[in-house]
Amino acid sequence: LANGVARVPPMGWNSWNSFGCNINETLIRQMADALVSSGMRDLGYQHVVVDDCWFNPNRDAAGDLQGDPSRFPSGMRALGDYLHARGLKFGLYQVPVDRTCAQYFGAYPGATGSQGHEAQDARQFAAWGVDYLKYDWCSPNGTIQDQVTTFAKMRDALAATGRPIVYSINPNSIHAKTGPQRNWGDVANLWRTTEDITNAWDTGQSNGYPMGIQNIVNVTVPLANYAGPGSFNDPDMLEVGRGGMSDTEMRSHFALWAMLAAPLIAGNDVRSMTSATQTILKNQNLIAINQDSLALQARQVSGDGSRRVLAKPLANGDVAVALFNQSGSTATISTTAAAVGKSGSSFTLRDAWTNTTTSSTGTISASVPAHGTVVYRVSGGGTVPSNTGTLVSAASGKC
Ligand code: GLA
Repeated sequence: LANGVARVPPMGWNSWNSFGCNINETLIRQMADALVSSGMRDLGYQHVVVDDCWFNPNRDAAGDLQGDPSRFPSGMRALGDYLHARGLKFGLYQVPVDRTCAQYFGAYPGATGSQGHEAQDARQFAAWGVDYLKYDWCSPNGTIQDQVTTFAKMRDALAATGRPIVYSINPNSIHAKTGPQRNWGDVANLWRTTEDITNAWDTGQSNGYPMGIQNIVNVTVPLANYAGPGSFNDPDMLEVGRGGMSDTEMRSHFALWAMLAAPLIAGNDVRSMTSATQTILKNQNLIAINQDSLALQARQVSGDGSRRVLAKPLANGDVAVALFNQSGSTATISTTAAAVGKSGSSFTLRDAWTNTTTSSTGTISASVPAHGTVVYRVSGGGTVPSNTGTLVSAASGKC
């Protein structure tokens, strides 16, 4: 969406994966402080997104939304001020239908959705200092055309406020189950590609609930053409640091989200991170690949169902190459500089995890553990213009 924001994928933290409805202003402030003290803010994790359950279940007499008075007694504006004073940005959750997802499933009372209140709520968000709206179609009802019309209403309402606000939508309860994936770049800055993520490598779902890491990768890789500055596929928030997976799988998860130009929205408790978790979330080589100004999503160069090669052209002519082993045992995965869009015969490969470099005359290869992902930043030689050459989309998928 050409609204001037999210020219590269947004980074930040969201309350839902770790805390669900158990949120309040003290918790959010502590998380903001931890983003600062851990150094994550300075690496780019700036959006602090308060997910579902921040609402007073009743609008006020003027029909305005209000924060839950017991959980957010200082009010939502004060929370925004707190975040802004620390160099952070303020994100909030809302829905385009009548009830939020937690309200729909009975976990939280009320019916405070924006349906019929779009302009009023957008003005309210702007007045509170909101920088990022997560807008979640949590309803089995409607067609894709209803979704386009309804999501566009809030797009236009946000634009009318004059405040730059990242617009993140979740159309997934309808479209991915009933039809082909849609390119939502005309409507939003980011759009979910699947049902909710969970902290598991594989849940056996091809687009059901919940989705494991490799299940989401399988759905999102073929959608590479949709991504570009201001418009990104959203394979959902990070599960790094939330258990349920090996360190190898956690590293793969982060490396693949970086390659897919996905929003990097941490979902763990950043007040108490192990050093392994910090090493993953703070990997500067991968963050640079994700935040590259070309804002391209990696495309699949080759793959046989268990060994995938993905390539992401970067602004300075380098190409990031991921060797992803989806099989159950260690495998050698190989490609060539020519296959990933480089010309020439002398290259440097920087390993994103070890930060060491090796020279290559064209072979790009590694022994990759089961479920592992090796990422090289390939420099040297010339570059075939991005998005041309031999890069191909995955053969399978829903697009
Ligand atoms: C949906 C979304 C989640 C989260 C919850 C909140 O399930 O997909 O990311 O926002 O709603 O209720």
